Amino acid sequence: MRLDKYLAQSTGFSRKEVRRFMKAGDVVVNDQEVSDPSLHIDEEDEVYLSGFPVEAPGDKYLMLHKPLGCVCSNDDGTHPTVLSLIDLPRAEELAICGRLDVDTTGLVLITSDGKWAHKITSPKHKTGKRYLVTTADPIPADAVDKFARGLMLNNEKVRTKPAELTITGDYEAEVILTEGRYHQVKRMFAAIGNRVEALHRASIGNIELDETLEPGEFRFLTDEEINSI
Ligand code: URA
Repeated sequence: MRLDKYLAQSTGFSRKEVRRFMKAGDVVVNDQEVSDPSLHIDEEDEVYLSGFPVEAPGDKYLMLHKPLGCVCSNDDGTHPTVLSLIDLPRAEELAICGRLDVDTTGLVLITSDGKWAHKITSPKHKTGKRYLVTTADPIPADAVDKFARGLMLNNEKVRTKPAELTITGDYEAEVILTEGRYHQVKRMFAAIGNRVEALHRASIGNIELDETLEPGEFRFLTDEEINSI
């Protein structure tokens, strides 16, 4: 497939916009800057736009470093949405895989592939989500056992699934959940008499938040990351 078609179909930019990127030196194929829109691209070619890998045309798979103050919904009257940070055409049609609260930061996966999104959000698939937590009060050692046995959350009838808690400091811990109930981490800490002061999602399954992404930035996932789910 021609390079301009490949880029346009993968990213949703028009061919005219794609050619502008090429002229500006933003397109690299197999480590070489390319300005020829007719260059033939094969499956094994590695295509980069503005430093980020571009998957072959098809579904889109992205990771975003969610900043504080924006919401994981498609529409919100008060706050900016995570999809407004994705400067790709038709970004508003993408699905957010597992939402974070407005005051939570970190890894958000975004895709056009509904089946893939389901594997992340459905508890049946047991995809672990790892959070870094800072609390208001010291975390007692017996919290590890309580999280592992499951907790009864306020207004719920079913105990939470076993969660892996690792205490990393007096007021700091990592927690891995395989389900995603409303405000789950905050409510689990509330259930043991503590309060979450800061919350950050570091990984989903084997996909780690890329530490080169500043809050508000996104990149396409690699094949390896996509296939790891
Ligand atoms: N648990 C929470 O309480 N908030 C989040 O944003 C994610 C998990």
